[in-house]
Amino acid sequence: MKFGILKSLGLISVTVGVVSSAQCPDYTTYAQTPHGSPSTGPLGLPYMRPEPTCRTFNSTAVERVIDDMNARLKDPDLARLFENTFPNTLDTTVKYFNATENLAFIITGVSAQWLRDTANQFAHYYSLLSIDRELASLVKAIINNEARYVSQYPYCGAFQPPPESGLSPSHNDWADGVIVNPPVDNRTVFECKYELDSLCGFLKLSRSYYLATNDSSMMNDNWHTALTQIFRVITEQSQSSFDADFNFISYYNWNGGSGSLSPPVPNGGNGEPKAYTGMVGTHHRPSDDLSTFAFLTPANAMLSVELAYLARILDASGQAANFSELAREWSTRIGEAVWNTTLLNGIFAYETNGLGARYVMDDANVPSLLSLPYLGFLDKQNPEYLATRRLLLSRQNPYYAAGKNFSGIGGPHIDAWHPWPMSQVSAIFGTDDDSEIMESLHLIANNTNGLGLIHESQSIYNSSDYTRPWFAWANSYFAEMLLDLADRKPHLIFKDNQRYIPG
Ligand SMILES: *[C@@H]1O[C@H](CO)[C@@H](O)[C@H](O)[C@H]1NC(C)=O
Ligand SMILES: *[C@@H]1O[C@H](CO)[C@@H](O)[C@H](O)[C@H]1NC(C)=O
Ligand SMILES: *[C@@H]1O[C@H](CO)[C@@H](O)[C@H](O)[C@H]1NC(C)=O
Ligand SMILES: *[C@@H]1O[C@H](CO)[C@@H](O)[C@H](O)[C@H]1NC(C)=O
Ligand SMILES: *[C@@H]1O[C@H](CO)[C@@H](O)[C@H](O)[C@H]1NC(C)=O
Ligand SMILES: *[C@@H]1O[C@H](CO)[C@@H](O)[C@H](O)[C@H]1NC(C)=O
Ligand SMILES: *[C@@H]1O[C@H](CO)[C@@H](O)[C@H](O)[C@H]1NC(C)=O
Ligand SMILES: *[C@@H]1O[C@H](CO)[C@@H](O)[C@H](O)[C@H]1NC(C)=O
Ligand SMILES: *[C@@H]1O[C@H](CO)[C@@H](O)[C@H](O)[C@H]1NC(C)=O
Repeated sequence: MKFGILKSLGLISVTVGVVSSAQCPDYTTYAQTPHGSPSTGPLGLPYMRPEPTCRTFNSTAVERVIDDMNARLKDPDLARLFENTFPNTLDTTVKYFNATENLAFIITGVSAQWLRDTANQFAHYYSLLSIDRELASLVKAIINNEARYVSQYPYCGAFQPPPESGLSPSHNDWADGVIVNPPVDNRTVFECKYELDSLCGFLKLSRSYYLATNDSSMMNDNWHTALTQIFRVITEQSQSSFDADFNFISYYNWNGGSGSLSPPVPNGGNGEPKAYTGMVGTHHRPSDDLSTFAFLTPANAMLSVELAYLARILDASGQAANFSELAREWSTRIGEAVWNTTLLNGIFAYETNGLGARYVMDDANVPSLLSLPYLGFLDKQNPEYLATRRLLLSRQNPYYAAGKNFSGIGGPHIDAWHPWPMSQVSAIFGTDDDSEIMESLHLIANNTNGLGLIHESQSIYNSSDYTRPWFAWANSYFAEMLLDLADRKPHLIFKDNQRYIPG
């Protein structure tokens, strides 16, 4: 999820944190002015980690990775960016954690937990879970908390703190006047836009934890109930809008009111009509913006990948053979439908409706078409990916823009001339071309408005015009990418050509 900074001002006053003493400034404010002594490179980037006493979780394994990378990175500005971004999730977003209760609450900058953001905010720590037990127990507690959310409200993507935390629910201005059916309780749910990739986020978090630890204890009753609900949504949202007699089939609808940020979902909150393809529909995109057509290609690609992993971890732990069979079937069906129905002339469409309509574009958020290799759906060298990538990074993608200061892919969430640094990170994950990698890396590093953190969007014309000073997911995604380069392309960023893999 993401909100433009101006749009999120209304929420700042309700932020309630574990660490919110007078000495600990609100991090959204803190992130807007430079702190500490500047890095010694030409960019002179500030040190943006909060004071140790204000950090929301400490990990010696994380500090070791920072030291290791600092010793190796040849560009002091890049080293400072890593130092600021790698720990940002632990430094700033762990609002509640109790290992005994097996509950943790992770915010994304706004005081709610987004399923999508959380899975990605931790993606660069998974390799440390086998060496840092406390960090592993934090991730396990996040999974349990999310399993409770998903088992109750599988159509929702953003949630309130667990009651055990004693943290008050936050008021969501954008949920005012929104009526959803089936209804939700706003003490548990922060926002209930139906976004398919939220469920993928929960699955990614679960399998990443299991594969890093071999600990199947997170597959508890909450988790199994959540799986049942996920398969329910998959079944419901893969169907045609009309049955043979033109009865309209609806399982969930969202009627936007004033202040709901995105326009109303058409057709009584059910979305554009769709026909069966084998893919699963969605109402909103990973940006929380309204979908044009229901079948979002990158979310289905991610779901196909994550269901294959789900089958694998269920089999490896000897659990729920019936679910693993179902997961494998759906993974194959969805993956084939992506290949069979979203390509035309070797180009993937971003959205389709199963009736021949297709929207050729890309949005900045992950899952996106540009991030298909990162998601694990296809190889970087795949010819359809290469052709689609060329199109997406050109004028043929309505949400690509290039200016004197910055370039990349944006989306309607902010506007077409504010691309997101995150899209440049996805571009790096999707290529082995050294010069393309370095061009993207330079663009990102030179466009933090001198603040040394990764922002949501950046104007192509004006370096000081950006959104979201504090965006934990973007910081994590950038650090994850640098660790990927440390393994895959050490000569590009290190003093020597020695690969580095943490953990
Ligand atoms: C992290 O460590 C600092 C001391 O370096 C301490 O003041 C702070 O309370 C710790 N944070 C947590 C969440 O334990
Ligand atoms: C964690 O939860 C348990 C059970 O509710 C409680 O007894 C304990 O005090 C909590 N721990 C902390 C550090 O709050
Ligand atoms: C939940 O909805 C009720 C009824 O509309 C409202 O009074 C209350 O303030 C809402 N709670 C939050 C946390 O927004
Ligand atoms: C988990 O188990 C697999 C198969 O036994 C093994 O290959 C892998 O190294 C184990 N991973 C960890 C983190 O223990
Ligand atoms: C799998 O089996 C369990 C226990 O027998 C049952 O509760 C669950 O509904 C089954 N799930 C599916 C998808 O068949
Ligand atoms: C995709 O196309 C192949 C080859 O035509 C076909 O065998 C398969 O059933 C199709 N899959 C789906 C989900 O439509
Ligand atoms: C900033 O941009 C300049 C010019 O492209 C480049 O030489 C420099 O390496 C960039 N800085 C970083 C940290 O990438
Ligand atoms: C970036 O934008 C600023 C205005 O904020 C301008 O002064 C500067 O020259 C621009 N940089 C480039 C490389 O165009
Ligand atoms: C650049 O953006 C900043 C922040 O939005 C604004 O204050 C400034 O006026 C803009 N500069 C130009 C030249 O548009």
